[in-house]
Amino acid sequence: MSTALTGTTALVTGASGGIGAATALSLAAQGANVALAARRKDRLDELVERIKADGGTALAIETDITDRTQATAMIEQTVAAFGGLDTLVNNAGIMLLGPAESAPIEEWDRMIALNVQGLLYATHAALPHLLAAAEGPRATADIVNISSLAGRVPIAGSAVYSLTKHGVGAFTEALRQEVTGRHVRVSLIEPGPVATELFTNIRPEILEASKDAYANATLLHAEDIADTITYVVTRPARVVMSELLVRPDASQW
Ligand SMILES: NC(=O)c1ccc[n+]([C@@H]2O[C@H](COP(=O)([O-])OP(=O)(O)OC[C@H]3O[C@@H](n4cnc5c(N)ncnc54)[C@H](OP(=O)(O)O)[C@@H]3O)[C@@H](O)[C@H]2O)c1
Repeated sequence: MSTALTGTTALVTGASGGIGAATALSLAAQGANVALAARRKDRLDELVERIKADGGTALAIETDITDRTQATAMIEQTVAAFGGLDTLVNNAGIMLLGPAESAPIEEWDRMIALNVQGLLYATHAALPHLLAAAEGPRATADIVNISSLAGRVPIAGSAVYSLTKHGVGAFTEALRQEVTGRHVRVSLIEPGPVATELFTNIRPEILEASKDAYANATLLHAEDIADTITYVVTRPARVVMSELLVRPDASQW
């Protein structure tokens, strides 16, 4: 059966859990060959088996995208396995919260290394392949960058996370202008709070101090963002969903 993404290849970073894993499943269900990248290979292997059991095609690539050599190899391995690249979902990210005044500066380094540099390495290596794909019969290719509500609205206690996601937004729009004439769509998704493991990396004292803010908040599901990403990459080639803010219902966020 032919579906919207049959015959295309997608690479999802941060596919070992949360939004990335849900997105890999969703794109595979639409017929894409899916490359799954993250550091935890055991989780990627499980997801590959699940996709294959559902009749899909998937490949696990153990990668730390903060390492430029590994990020480049991840793209090359995808292209070697599937013959090209149509869709790059730059999803891998980390959120380490807390007031700037007392923050361990190593947390800032980690967020910049992954949320900014990792995304840049992956994008730079992928661009020639995406531009080539957009010259093919489908006449389009996609980069989908996962930002955050914190990339639209700076939030106290989230200064450097907000900085990284605002940077992703700026890069996304500038890159869109550069490549839209050659039919590569560059899109930004800004989720509000989603129930994933993202919050488990936050220092316990910071989590405790911010629990009231989240106490009654509705949380989105990873599948809600996966749906959004799938929607964006399955529009007709003439339609570019350049920016989408996805908020939960009944929530200040
Ligand atoms: N959850 C939310 O409320 C929320 C809201 C707005 C935006 N977002 C954004 O959504 C994206 C996905 O987050 P999530 O909520 O799904 O969180 P998550 O469940 O913690 O997933 C993060 C993913 O990033 C991967 N990752 C971490 N370090 C990596 C590295 N060095 N190289 C490659 N992959 C790496 C992790 O895999 P490994 O550990 O196996 O490498 C994991 O698969 C992030 O960009 C986040 O900022 C999330």
